[in-house]
Amino acid sequence: MTKIRITVLVENTAGGPDLLAEHGLAYWIEYQGRRVLFDCGQGGVLASNAYKLRVPLRESEALVLSHGHYDHTGGVAEALKSTRSIPVYAHQAAFARKFMRNRDGTAREIGLPYFSDKAIRESSGRWIPTSQPTTVFDGLTVTGPVPRLVDFEAPGGPFFLDEACTQPDPLEDDQSLFFDTAAGIVVLLGCAHSGIINTLRYVGQLAGHRPIRAVIGGMHLIAASPERITRTIEELQRIGVERLAPAHCTGMPATVALWNAFPDRCLTCHTGSSFKFTAE
Ligand SMILES: [Fe+2]
Ligand SMILES: [Fe+2]
Repeated sequence: MTKIRITVLVENTAGGPDLLAEHGLAYWIEYQGRRVLFDCGQGGVLASNAYKLRVPLRESEALVLSHGHYDHTGGVAEALKSTRSIPVYAHQAAFARKFMRNRDGTAREIGLPYFSDKAIRESSGRWIPTSQPTTVFDGLTVTGPVPRLVDFEAPGGPFFLDEACTQPDPLEDDQSLFFDTAAGIVVLLGCAHSGIINTLRYVGQLAGHRPIRAVIGGMHLIAASPERITRTIEELQRIGVERLAPAHCTGMPATVALWNAFPDRCLTCHTGSSFKFTAE
C-alpha cells in the first residue's frame, strides 16, 4: 500500500506552532516515492515552514508552477538554491510581465519576480514548457492550459499584461496538478484562474472520468458574484467531488458558501495541513 501525502508549506493562514503564513501557496507532494514542490509562495516563509515541517526541500525532484503570479513564484530562488538541476514545469506565459489594476487606476506588477526568473534561467535549461498536459511522474500530471468552456467563469480580477492596463491577461499559464489515488483523482489548484469548474471538467476528461476524490487549493472566487458561487456549487454537486479544501484566493464569501453547501465534505487548509491518500 503506497502512501501519498500532501503537505501545505505556504498558505494565507498558519495552522500550527511556529508556522508562518503569507498570501500565497506552496505544496510538498510525496507521491509513490517521488517528491515534488508545487508552487513556492512569495518566498518569505517557504524555507522556515519547510524546516519546521521537516520537509527536505533539497530532495525535491521537480518544481511545478501553477502560473506566474508572485504569490506562487516568489520562492523559486529559495527552492532552487540547493537543487539547481531539477526540472521546472511552467507554461511560457508564466514568464510574461503581469499587472493588476489598483482601485485608483494605477497598476502594480504581480508577475514572476526577477530573482525567480533568473534562478530558472540559470538552472541549466531545465525549464519544461507545459503547453499541453504533461506527465511529471507516472500518475502525476500537470494540466497545461485549461480550455475555458464554462459560461459563468472568468479569470477573476483586473489582470493585465501591460502597466497601462490595456491588454487583459488571459492567464493562459494557469494550470493545476492532479494524480491518481486508489479512491479517485486528487486535484491541486494554484489559483484556478481558468475557473474551478473548467479545471475539474478538463481533469475529468484527461483522467478518463474517474471519480474526483479531492480538490485542494485556491479557487479564485474572491471577486465572484453570488450567481457564480451558486452555479459553482451546483456544478460541484453534479461532479460529485468527495472532499473540498478551499484555500488561498477562494475568498471568504465563497469559502463560507462551500462550507454551508458541503459541511461534511469540506476540510480546512492552512500552512502545515497535510492530506493523506493511498495509491493502491
Ligand atoms: Fe494566488
Ligand atoms: Fe494568481
